[in-house]
Amino acid sequence: MAKSLEELASPYLHGLLPYIPGKPIGEVERELGITGVVKLASNENPLGPSPLALCALREALPESHRYPDGGGYYLKGRLAACLGLTPGHLILGNGCNELLELMARAFLLPGDEVVIADPAFVIYGMLAHLQGCTTVRVPLKAWTHDLEAMAKAVTTRTKMVFLGNPNNPTGTAVRPTELKAFMDAVPEEVIVVIDEAYIEYVPQELVPDSLGYVRQGRWVIVLRTFSKIYGLAGLRIGYGMAPPSMVELLERVRAPFNVNSLAQRAALAALDDQAHLSSSRQVNDLGKAYLSGELHRLGLQFPPSVANFLLVDLKQDGRAVADALLRMGVIVRPLQGAYLKTHIRVTIGTPPENERFIQALKAVL
Ligand SMILES: Cc1ncc(COP(=O)(O)O)c(C=O)c1O
Repeated sequence: MAKSLEELASPYLHGLLPYIPGKPIGEVERELGITGVVKLASNENPLGPSPLALCALREALPESHRYPDGGGYYLKGRLAACLGLTPGHLILGNGCNELLELMARAFLLPGDEVVIADPAFVIYGMLAHLQGCTTVRVPLKAWTHDLEAMAKAVTTRTKMVFLGNPNNPTGTAVRPTELKAFMDAVPEEVIVVIDEAYIEYVPQELVPDSLGYVRQGRWVIVLRTFSKIYGLAGLRIGYGMAPPSMVELLERVRAPFNVNSLAQRAALAALDDQAHLSSSRQVNDLGKAYLSGELHRLGLQFPPSVANFLLVDLKQDGRAVADALLRMGVIVRPLQGAYLKTHIRVTIGTPPENERFIQALKAVL
């Protein structure tokens, strides 16, 4: 008998479920026949893109018939100058998600071990699984990466360690001294992926010198994105910083023109918009203070987040609460995994969005 399509597919697809993104506002409004839905499910910037980025987009539109600059000359040059690196240290991606994928495709082989925290950004485990790797999951300690335990989990078969800093879904960050101790403990041939998608929200004293390892030529890639504080999630653009020898290998698996021209132009303009960055931080800090106070008053607990979202323990089925909130027009993120069944992840929004969430949550609870 002919093989089924499933049998023809990579065996590593078996048992793998697709990534479920936060529902788009339009879809929820259509389904429920309502308007004014609030989305606090995907850690986007509630203020939207920087006005400078919007202006750059309008200017760039007439050139949309041209392929983008496949080498990202201007953006890499600009980032390199800001970060004290060379353009050869940089690679651009269709979101930093694509860079995670390129890392997996370039380096991970069946049988390799990959060390990740539990819970961590779900994509790390999915990519490792797809490459046929063994995933070694190290439970968080006090909701933060247990870097000592993660270093101990490294064996001679470990190819890669993924560190989300801040971690998604907890919003917690490791202390710079902890990262240093970890890097000192881990053998140099282990590749460390430091995912800093939310680093621009983190207070300066907690930002580690991860780029120092890149400059030293350690086998490290640091990933950042324009999807979060820069408010450009819909354009899909992120960047990785790694030793030029690693970038050169990743370039071999990168699709041509992976980052579109509008995204490149908007990203360049967004880097110039310090006012948008600081108001985004301010709105986030105020929103976090408001939500923290209200959640505490409701007797609910959450780890101390340094990012733009909170992981809230509802002490009851998180998915049921998320569904009830959805019916009231507030989209939050229910979570999978053994110890997150009673949790939801909520993105910090604008003051009216945060108030709407709290009102709806009070009604549901
Ligand atoms: C920790 C982490 N890394 C990476 C990403 C992917 O970001 P991007 O939109 O740049 O692909 C996300 C998105 O939510 C994230 O939370």
